[in-house]
Amino acid sequence: MSDLSDPTAQPAAPAAPAAPALPVPAAPQAPGEILLDARNVKKYFPIMGGLLRHQIGKVYAVDDVSLQIYRGEKFGLVGESGCGKTTFGRTILRLEKATDGTVSMDGQDVLALQGNDLKKMRRRMQIIFQDPYGSLNPRMPISDIIGEGLLAQGDKANGWGKRSIRDSRVGDYLEAVGLRRDYSRRYPHEFSGGQRQRIGIARALALDPEFIVCDEPVSALDVSIQSQILNLLSDLRAQFNLTYLFIAHNLSVVQYFCDRIGVMYLGKLVEIAPVDILYANPQHPYSVALLSAIPVPDPRVRKRRLVLKGDVPSPANPPTGCRFHTRCWLRDRLGNPAECSTTEPLLKTVGADHQVACHFADQVTAQAVQESAASQSVIDTAVATD
Ligand SMILES: Nc1ncnc2c1ncn2[C@@H]1O[C@H](COP(=O)(O)OP(=O)(O)OP(=O)(O)O)[C@@H](O)[C@H]1O
Ligand code: SF4
Ligand SMILES: [Mg+2]
Repeated sequence: MSDLSDPTAQPAAPAAPAAPALPVPAAPQAPGEILLDARNVKKYFPIMGGLLRHQIGKVYAVDDVSLQIYRGEKFGLVGESGCGKTTFGRTILRLEKATDGTVSMDGQDVLALQGNDLKKMRRRMQIIFQDPYGSLNPRMPISDIIGEGLLAQGDKANGWGKRSIRDSRVGDYLEAVGLRRDYSRRYPHEFSGGQRQRIGIARALALDPEFIVCDEPVSALDVSIQSQILNLLSDLRAQFNLTYLFIAHNLSVVQYFCDRIGVMYLGKLVEIAPVDILYANPQHPYSVALLSAIPVPDPRVRKRRLVLKGDVPSPANPPTGCRFHTRCWLRDRLGNPAECSTTEPLLKTVGADHQVACHFADQVTAQAVQESAASQSVIDTAVATD
């Protein structure tokens, strides 16, 4: 495991009592085995209005999203604010009721489960929240914050209903995330942001999950702490045989952390590819624009950025045809073909494990990108010229 130390952490207790052994991770599964299979998932929120507060419209937050996540994978989900990343993550976990679609986890139909079967499934699918401050109840000690889920999931077999067993497990998982066992008696305000996020991770881990939705787990943290938390998540994935859906804004973070990436725009997936392929050769005009905005660390390098015109349209009234057509630089370049505004492009395979939803993806060439960026005359700032 990499260095788990948090600069704000307090010195380790001199002779901490020996922790009971954590569960031995299962043997790694064959690569390519699908753990989570989401098909045609939709989540529409009603818009209420009028004097009688009746439904006057819908927010098409997630609109027909299908994706498969392999066991042991770190799958990244990126896209602008409001494109539906969190809603998708919450819907597959059944924290939101899906409007339509299916989600299967290890072959079990998650959206159809009820009663005890649903309770068991909830243990296997957990979430780590973005906000390490808001997600921990300030009035509860850490032992209760982490123990709450254990108590709810307690049964005769695991014994989690017993305080002593719960407390011991809380201590085990605090240690697993690089904190001291005796921190369990403290309250959230006694910790730094990085430490609180470790507590949020311990809370998810204590239930022995296989699949975790990490919803922007480092966005609220200082840059210096971000890499520690990412390394911790990576180590825990290997140690506990976890699979992640990793939601993020920051494309550099996703590039560093993830194996495959899905790019979302206005409730739809527009591109899915392994991380190295997406960053080297994005095929959707929206992905190209997103990636062109990543700053280059070398100050001598001048980089042209593709700036998208206009604002993101409302998800309550998405554009017809291709949802990206109102802002698409490639459509402009191609002379506004009618297909873009009349026919929805579906994801189609353009390479190994690489899918794109654009009628004209084959026109996304390096030359087309360069010429379009040059015509906008936008060069990233803070660059020194040779
Ligand atoms: N409970 C809700 N009721 C109504 N609309 C909602 C609700 N939750 C989300 N939305 C809307 O659904 C759309 C998608 O929101 P979501 O939070 O999933 O986006 P996101 O991609 O996670 O954004 P961010 O990057 O800012 O976290 C937004 O337009 C949002 O306003
Ligand atoms: S289908 Fe048309 S509008 Fe949509 S991304 Fe492709 S070129 Fe742009
Ligand atoms: Mg979100």
